[in-house]
Amino acid sequence: MTDDDQNTGGEHDTGYGRTGPASGESVVRRERFTGGPAREFLSSLSADERIFAADLAVDRAHVVMLTEQDIVGDEDAATILAALADIEAAGHGALPAGEDVHEAIETAVVERVGPAGGRMHTARSRNDEVAACIRYRLREDLLAALETVVEARERLLASASEEVETVMPGYTHLQPAQPTTVAHWLCSYEGALARDAGRLLDAYDRVNRSPLGAAAFAGTPFDVDREQTAALLGFDGLVENATDAVSARDFLVETSAGVAGLGLTLSGLAEDSVLFAHRGYLDLADAYASTSSIMPQKKNPDTLELVRGRTGDAVAGLSGLLTTLKGLPRAYNRDLQRAGRHAWEAIDSVTASAEVAVGAVTTADWDEGALASAAGEGFTTATGVADLLARSGVPFRTAHEVVALAGEADQPDAAALEAAAREVLGESLWSHVDRAAVERALDPEQSVASRDSRGGPAPDAVAAHLDRARDGLAGDRAAIDERRETLSTAARRLDREVSRYV
Ligand code: ARG
Repeated sequence: MTDDDQNTGGEHDTGYGRTGPASGESVVRRERFTGGPAREFLSSLSADERIFAADLAVDRAHVVMLTEQDIVGDEDAATILAALADIEAAGHGALPAGEDVHEAIETAVVERVGPAGGRMHTARSRNDEVAACIRYRLREDLLAALETVVEARERLLASASEEVETVMPGYTHLQPAQPTTVAHWLCSYEGALARDAGRLLDAYDRVNRSPLGAAAFAGTPFDVDREQTAALLGFDGLVENATDAVSARDFLVETSAGVAGLGLTLSGLAEDSVLFAHRGYLDLADAYASTSSIMPQKKNPDTLELVRGRTGDAVAGLSGLLTTLKGLPRAYNRDLQRAGRHAWEAIDSVTASAEVAVGAVTTADWDEGALASAAGEGFTTATGVADLLARSGVPFRTAHEVVALAGEADQPDAAALEAAAREVLGESLWSHVDRAAVERALDPEQSVASRDSRGGPAPDAVAAHLDRARDGLAGDRAAIDERRETLSTAARRLDREVSRYV
């Protein structure tokens, strides 16, 4: 069956309209098209379990609206809505065969109600129906992902507030670069997760638009109230143009892109942590580690490796989705049946990763001794010494040269710096800075404390950052709660409307 011929008579006579809704001829017509060897190939019924509840909600809102608009009579509405309740109680597994959940639910309604059940599909198509169902369900998944990310950020900030003074080596190009703190490193990931959450929230607001009432792609002669079905389902508005409404899957693209981006953040967090475990800075809790089946001494960071691996799945999902959508003509094409799964898989996989990655990192033990002694290895305080010289008036590039030369010594200490200064500047280091200041700059802890610019690793700067980050977190929590509240208010209202008929 295609939706292009529903409700319009069209080329194929359904038997309705002329003889009245007294026969099961539409069912016969469907059987003609779904009994062949491609039955399984065509069907999305089992994958549609994900949108079973969504489809029932969409059906209810549509029937309520049709009744309010006097398109369907109260009695038919009552029997259809009662049948939907029965179908819901029986569950997705009890549905009759069908090309998809939309067709199977309609068949189940007709089985219970008789031909009048076929009125449910007045003024709509599976094309607007499926788009509405995907959007309806995806909102839930997005909110769940957002709640997980917010929770993860909360845990990172809580860990950070305990590690504000824990000095560690920082790297660029994986080479020792400058001393920083564990808190500063943790906050760097919280900041990235905050942006990931922002992208998912933005995506949510475009997901949350109703395509219902678009019918196949070209609208309907029935006097439908599109704003009403949108409101009953908690949508913030419409995808107005009917062809756009049934064709659009860019909301899946931006969701999947947001999820893949979140995956990238998490895989960075995982990779850093694997390296820290490798260097002995970090000891994962047993719950987040695995051992070897042959090497009894092993404690492996498998959970974090799987976080990296799952990011690959999410990136693959985004790529699969884009490939499915590329070059599709207007309006509905069956390729679209393959689009949703990429987004579902990606969002499930990465949401689980967020919980595990942050769980692993925030329950791990930091070896403060190992971190402290590694913090200064590889002359990581060099930049601080150059900064000290530059602050005394030596041009930074010249200061860089002095310190680079001192860094070639076996022991890049005050004596080596003095020798380098004589060679490059032609005068004593001590005519620029005092010895105590140099000793301070060479100390990793003091080096960290000196970098107190906004967003820097000095304990005070991190403490101030933590306050701002907590404010941001509270704002995101409020944004999520507001959206959840809108959805549950709409769901309660739909229940009330339905209970007026049954
Ligand atoms: N199962 C289909 C999907 O998931 C529903 C829409 C079918 N529409 C049609 N014209 N064949 O996309």
